[in-house]
Amino acid sequence: MAGGAIVSTGAPKDYPAKLTFFVLFASVVAATGGLIVGYDIGISGGVTSMDSFLSKFFPSVYRKEKENQSTNQYCKFDSQVLQMFTSSLYLAALIASFFASSVTRMFGRKWSMFGGGITFLVGAALNGFAQDVLMLILGRILLGIGVGFAGQSVPIYLSEMAPARMRGMLNIGFQFMITIGILAANLINYGTSEIKGGWGWRISLGLAAVPASIITVGSLFLPDTPNSLIERGHADEATRMLRRIRGTHDVHEEYNDLVAASEVAKLVKHPWRNILKRKYRPQLIMTILIPFFQQLTGINVIMFYAPVLFKTIGFGGNASLMSAVIVGLVNVFATIVSIVTVDKLGRRKLFLQGGSQMLACQIIVGTLIAIKFGTSGEANPSKTYAAFVVFFICVYVAGFAWSWGPLASLVPSEIFPLEIRSAGQSINVSVNMLFTFIIAQAFLTMLCHMKFGLFYFFGGWVLIMTTFVAIFFPETKNVPIEEMILVWKAHWFWGRFIADEEIHIGGRIEMANGILKVGSK
Ligand code: BGC
Repeated sequence: MAGGAIVSTGAPKDYPAKLTFFVLFASVVAATGGLIVGYDIGISGGVTSMDSFLSKFFPSVYRKEKENQSTNQYCKFDSQVLQMFTSSLYLAALIASFFASSVTRMFGRKWSMFGGGITFLVGAALNGFAQDVLMLILGRILLGIGVGFAGQSVPIYLSEMAPARMRGMLNIGFQFMITIGILAANLINYGTSEIKGGWGWRISLGLAAVPASIITVGSLFLPDTPNSLIERGHADEATRMLRRIRGTHDVHEEYNDLVAASEVAKLVKHPWRNILKRKYRPQLIMTILIPFFQQLTGINVIMFYAPVLFKTIGFGGNASLMSAVIVGLVNVFATIVSIVTVDKLGRRKLFLQGGSQMLACQIIVGTLIAIKFGTSGEANPSKTYAAFVVFFICVYVAGFAWSWGPLASLVPSEIFPLEIRSAGQSINVSVNMLFTFIIAQAFLTMLCHMKFGLFYFFGGWVLIMTTFVAIFFPETKNVPIEEMILVWKAHWFWGRFIADEEIHIGGRIEMANGILKVGSK
């Protein structure tokens, strides 16, 4: 086992980098876990704007909305109860992700995915058949548990299955499925809102069973990752699996890395206590800040409330739902840009470019709204004006979709050593869920009080996070996952947290004068 030997060759270290059909297939199946996450993000905003749904479950909100003759557009939809419907799920997901951490570590990644799928399935059924608010909320809680389990396990699974050089691409499959889930939900809402009998919302909510069935059944056929097999003491099976997924017998070096990682992992009895150790400080801080920042981009203002927002700037009901579909399409296609570029350009370039693009758009959108609506919130902008706003919102969403969208689940899943990977990923998911919850809960109220300034508010955060990445985030592309510690060690700031003797890797990564060289022998 190499300690911190100082020999460097400079050439990129190569494990077998072939993408086998087997890995591709397993990754696509696992990534479908993203569908349930996305479906939920897209479905609730539309459902809560359906009169039949509101009058059945939230009659007081419905009455208030109908009676509200105020011309102040900013405050038209401000309602705590309504926001609670959307956001309650994220609280359940937050708590569930901690339980998912133990399942993922002790029983393997696939059982977390299965558990997530099946819970989500029951939640979808409860919601589709809901007779009262209790069934509705119970359903939401089960959906949340499903989202927590899927969000915790799928990114880890993908990052561990992938050859290092394609890890970004395969991991982003998860985010890609999230965006497809959101788009599907937008389209379904568009269709069901037309249903006359007042039961369209049942279809919207009940159809969540489709993505849930896909991941539930799919996960049963998934093999577990070699990392997890070794971690759970199945060495022979792990060798076989590694050969199979890499499509070669020459897996010796990678296998050594995995065994070394698992030996360290075995010494760690309490991942939650361990993750607080000084040597893990860089990863811990990243896994808290990255999802926090992601939510502070303000993306979910658009994802949850696009129809409401578009109504606010002057579109009719139909045009608003249609605009939400357009935004959904942009989200899907722009994610493909990151799939293609993330392992070539790297994570940093995408973060920096995407951040700058989002910031510019937020300033433009805020200003366009300020010019028309001022602080009174009264205006009747022309269709062209509103279309301009939608255009810049699309450019903003594109910037997000190739930066903070995919990278916020890729980066935390690839930076942790095995012994605390599962715990680290739970922190990532729960911080994400916490701030998704807060923003879902607060947006309509914030819009009412901060008015157009809300866009500047999120813009300010994007400026902060982009500067943070520029200064503190080291590039992680192409580095084998069990050797990532060297990236931190080599960083000007984070290096100080990791002592030389704390580096245990099986391969031949070397440090020279504080500079990381991932090289061949
Ligand atoms: C975020 C979600 C967001 C989605 C939009 C995900 O990465 O975690 O909160 O709604 O991207 O595509």
